[in-house]
Amino acid sequence: MLESLRMENEPIKLLFVCLGNICRSPTGEGVMRHLVDEAGLKHRFEIDSAGTGSWHLGESPDRRSVAHAAARGITIGGHARQVSSADFDHYDYILAADAYNLRDLQAIAPTDELEAKVHMLREFDPMSTPDDLDVPDPYYGGPNGFDEVIDLVEAACRGLLDEVLSQKA
Ligand code: 4NP
Repeated sequence: MLESLRMENEPIKLLFVCLGNICRSPTGEGVMRHLVDEAGLKHRFEIDSAGTGSWHLGESPDRRSVAHAAARGITIGGHARQVSSADFDHYDYILAADAYNLRDLQAIAPTDELEAKVHMLREFDPMSTPDDLDVPDPYYGGPNGFDEVIDLVEAACRGLLDEVLSQKA
C-alpha cells in the first residue's frame, strides 16, 4: 500500500533528445513544460532535454528556437548536455526527435528493458504516420523550419500528455 502510494506520487519523468540539444529537444522541453503548466500539472512532471552529440555542451538554446517559441508565449531555456546511460535509469520516457537520434539512443541503452523507454516523439501525435516520424533538423535551414518544429513538437506533446496521464491517472 505504502509502495503504491509512493509510486503514484513519483513524478512522470520525460527526457527530450535531439542531436545538439540546442533546437528541437529544448523546444520539446519548453513546449511540454508549457502544456503541463497550463493543465495545472507541473508538480506531477520532471522534464529535461539532452543531445546525442557533444558539440554544443553548455550552450543556451539556439536564438532562433528561442525567438520562434517566444512568439507563441513559450519559454525555452537551459544549457546543452549530452545524454548518458544514467538517463535510461532515471527517465520514464526518452523521446527521440528523429530516426538518427533513435538509433544512437538504442546503441547506448544499457539493457533491452531500458531501451524500451526510447520512443520517437512523434509516435504520440495521433495525426502522424509511421513512415514520417521525424522532427526535421532546422539548424541549417530558414525560419520556416523553426516554426515547423514547434508545430510538430506541440502536436506530439499534446498526444504524449494524454498518453502518460492515461497510464498514470
Ligand atoms: P538540434 O539541432 O539537434 O535540434 O539541437 C542541431 C544543432 C546543431 C547542429 C545540428 C543540429 N550542428 O550540426 O551543430
